[in-house]
Amino acid sequence: MAETEGAVVGHVAFSPVIVDSSEDTQGYILAPLGVKPDYQKRRIGSTLIESGKQRLSAMGVDILFVYGDPEYYSRLGFSVDAAECYIPPYRLEYPFGWQAMVLGERDWRISSAKIACVGSLCDPRLW
Ligand SMILES: CC(C)(COP(=O)(O)OP(=O)(O)OC[C@H]1O[C@@H](n2cnc3c(N)ncnc32)[C@H](O)[C@@H]1OP(=O)(O)O)[C@@H](O)C(=O)NCCC(=O)NCCS
Repeated sequence: MAETEGAVVGHVAFSPVIVDSSEDTQGYILAPLGVKPDYQKRRIGSTLIESGKQRLSAMGVDILFVYGDPEYYSRLGFSVDAAECYIPPYRLEYPFGWQAMVLGERDWRISSAKIACVGSLCDPRLW
């Protein structure tokens, strides 16, 4: 959470995903992210993502997924290319929004692997 003067002005959540592959890949997904309208464009969203990314890297997470606007997330290190081998849990309304960022040093590009997410994201309307 991002707080100012005791009030929450931004929030991000990261949850683990199951990567169905023979590789032992540890993945997470970023969702949701929100910053209160009056506080947007002050780098609060970027800072929340960056600090989460550092924590996940320290935990040994290999890859971080996101489903969102590439115009925003590409500035923060996500790319469509990094996600192309990973099949999202549901059919996407906006396939161009499926992105990932490799956090570890290994090249996690594999032939293809299905992603499963936590229960709260298991709603096709979110995808
Ligand atoms: C998207 C959102 C989280 C961005 O948070 P923020 O704190 O305003 O973002 P930042 O200030 O860190 O922005 C970083 C950069 O991205 C740009 N940016 C911000 N929102 C953007 C958007 N929606 N699309 C494209 N670029 C955006 C900023 O202009 C800034 O550019 P700069 O580095 O050239 O100055 C915020 O606008 C929001 O809560 N929107 C509504 C909810 C939402 O859409 N969440 C994302 C769901 S996937």
